[in-house]
Amino acid sequence: MEHVQINEVSLRDGLQMHQEFIPTEAKLRLLDSLLRAGVRHFEVTSFVSPKAVPQMADAAELCAVLPSVEGAHYSVLVPNLKGLERATGAGCRTVNLVLSATETMNQKNIRMSLGQTRSVCADTIRHAHELGLGADAYIAVAFECPYEGAVDPGHIVDLADEMFEAGAGRVIIADTIGAANPAQVKRLFSMLLPRFDVGRFACHFHDTRALALANVWESLEAGVRRFDSSVGGLGGCPFSPGASGNLATEDLLQFLHSCGFETGVAVDGIVGAIDVASEITGRDLGGRIMPWLRAQRARSESEIHA
Ligand code: COA
Ligand code: ZN
Repeated sequence: MEHVQINEVSLRDGLQMHQEFIPTEAKLRLLDSLLRAGVRHFEVTSFVSPKAVPQMADAAELCAVLPSVEGAHYSVLVPNLKGLERATGAGCRTVNLVLSATETMNQKNIRMSLGQTRSVCADTIRHAHELGLGADAYIAVAFECPYEGAVDPGHIVDLADEMFEAGAGRVIIADTIGAANPAQVKRLFSMLLPRFDVGRFACHFHDTRALALANVWESLEAGVRRFDSSVGGLGGCPFSPGASGNLATEDLLQFLHSCGFETGVAVDGIVGAIDVASEITGRDLGGRIMPWLRAQRARSESEIHA
């Protein structure tokens, strides 16, 4: 069976919009439940300004106590050289840069122009390499920007080229506001893949308009084998209006497994992580398959008691 890698982003993308600060210990409990389900790739936090995103103020504390589990890979988001310096100080080995595709989105997100962000991302990637760290680049609002509308795929090809040129190991195509459709995904990859190896791409979809899994399918058809998702569909970006829920990990797993891919992550195991995520956020979380998962659980419990 072909393997697809799941990169769990609930601890960063998932929690960054949550207003009340979640204690480091509670974040660790969520991480632990995901590890127990078999998840091995995570974006755990971001080294951004705590004034911009108070939820990530404990980035260094969290990184200091990440469990060392065989095969576990932890990455962190950094917006600039200061973030890289903080991440390195905290012992991180892989950083993720975020380059939004449009002028306004960069201004809103990190208060820099598109031009400045391009050079800051490239500099930070180069510097990460000098320090012996891995660096990946997200291209955010890669299909549509909440401020500027549709994004030209040719522009995404140029940005990907720049990030690979700077040394990014991977480029992650991010539909930050969940506006993409499969036809756009197909078109974008048809323009990217003649130039770059498909193994260097991953995708990050939000399910705002119920098209995340359709977009995953189109990316799979293009050959992409790594996807971001967030347990319970937790997430959104405070700087992009309309960026509701990430693609839920449980929906992605069920979809991939039913299509004959293996992920190393058990859907049943994820139920425990959804419970932890719900408990620590005080929200009733769960992706589209949650009612079905609950029914399955009730059925197996009644069988045990029968
Ligand atoms: N981590 C912590 N603090 C940082 C930082 C970082 N990576 N980068 C800058 N700062 C600090 C500066 O030291 C300065 O501190 P001071 O006020 O105590 O002097 C303050 O932030 C402002 O610095 P400045 O360079 O003027 O930045 P800014 O106010 O224009 O903000 C960012 C720029 C990038 C730091 C801020 O917008 C940010 O953190 N954005 C992240 C947004 C995010 O997480 N988006 C979602 C993920 S894509
Ligand atoms: Zn996102």
